[in-house]
Amino acid sequence: MSVKIPRGTQDILPGQSEKWQYIESIAKEVCRRYHYKEIRTPIFEHTELFKRSVGDTTDIVQKEMYTFEDRGERSLTLRPEGTAAVVRSFVENKMFGIPDQPVKLFYTGPMFRYERPQSGRYRQFVQFGVEAIGSEDPAIDAEVIALVMDIYKSAGLKKLNLVINSLGDAESRNAHRAALIAHFEPRIGEFCADCQTRLAQNPLRILDCKKDRDHELMGTAPSILDYLNEESKTYFSKVTGYLDGLGISYTIDPKLVRGLDYYNHTAFEVMSEAEGFGAITTLCGGGRYNGLVQDLGGPDSPGIGFAFSIERFIAAMEAEGIKWPLDNGLDCYIVALGEEAKDRSVALVHQLRTAGLSADRDYQDRKMKAQLKASDRQNARFTAILGEDELAENRITVKDMAAGSQENVPLNELAQYVKTKMEAN
Ligand code: HAM
Repeated sequence: MSVKIPRGTQDILPGQSEKWQYIESIAKEVCRRYHYKEIRTPIFEHTELFKRSVGDTTDIVQKEMYTFEDRGERSLTLRPEGTAAVVRSFVENKMFGIPDQPVKLFYTGPMFRYERPQSGRYRQFVQFGVEAIGSEDPAIDAEVIALVMDIYKSAGLKKLNLVINSLGDAESRNAHRAALIAHFEPRIGEFCADCQTRLAQNPLRILDCKKDRDHELMGTAPSILDYLNEESKTYFSKVTGYLDGLGISYTIDPKLVRGLDYYNHTAFEVMSEAEGFGAITTLCGGGRYNGLVQDLGGPDSPGIGFAFSIERFIAAMEAEGIKWPLDNGLDCYIVALGEEAKDRSVALVHQLRTAGLSADRDYQDRKMKAQLKASDRQNARFTAILGEDELAENRITVKDMAAGSQENVPLNELAQYVKTKMEAN
């Protein structure tokens, strides 16, 4: 029996991988404009890191991590998200000492969560994210949100809903926590076993429960917005004020709590509103995490960031029917007929490639007709035919597949000829 791909993972084959490259290139270009620099961290980290940042009582830590012991008996975990590692690296590399704060970083790479696979939910998925660490200016919250909306806009996505909420500071959260306990405690017996443990440990997580989401107490649960202290209210109105000023529309949803523990103040998600988009409509999630750097052993350095998966980004593009501006074509395919022509074509494709063109040839010793068909299948802009007659004159026949015309050019001028024609287009 052949070995199959693990559940919840996928091969990204040619034809699809270009879409990934396209989205990554847009995201990187927008990051360049906003002055965010790339950081690369390991794919696995000490398990402890995620317990302390994402949170011991979250679904991610309790149910979804790929944790293993290495040969040195250390507990390691395949990263389920990027923020924890970026903050660890910020502390470890003393980036808080860099004179210009916040430090503005972006990252991309595979993340791993042992979730039940379904459309838009994988066990290995690729996130693109940014983190701005070292400032508590609400303008940076607006910048981070503007950045992600700019990425979506640059790709042509329109049917989006930016949902935003404030989780407040520690004081506001404590007041809200007490109200949540008072609200759920009398009827906690009607909730799932997980929610019963959540009540004491982290009642905010009850609002995130997938099993009990239709329970009547969910709809009437106390809203965090009613428990924000003055400072938190002012902060939130500054953020929304900046978004208004930038013309970025949003919906405030007091029920948006996010599934990770490190958040406070601004929390946001971007949802797809495209018809036919799967059941999971969240494209992007992010928020502020003011205590995290300290929790991981650094100084008081407030941060904010977001991450989206490329998988859901692609699904949104397809649900909106956006045409992929991908250039899959080949610049020149060489059709060589006869032994000598084949030998000569080794150097010919090389010259084309050295000149910066994409070029290919036949490697299956096929007849002329089959080679011409291959050139066609590969969408070659030019087909260069080298037969005995051409060889005798040291020339080559070049067909312009778009114009339907052909010319006979000196062999040593082939690369220059194709290049000039391509540039003229
Ligand atoms: P998150 O909400 O857990 O946040 O994930 C962010 C995004 O990753 C989601 O909105 C979704 O696009 C994608 N995603 C999550 N799980 C899966 C999955 N199983 N399959 C496909 N895509 C998935 C975080 O990870 C935070 N670190 C975001 C952040 C950065 N907050 C501050 N900075």
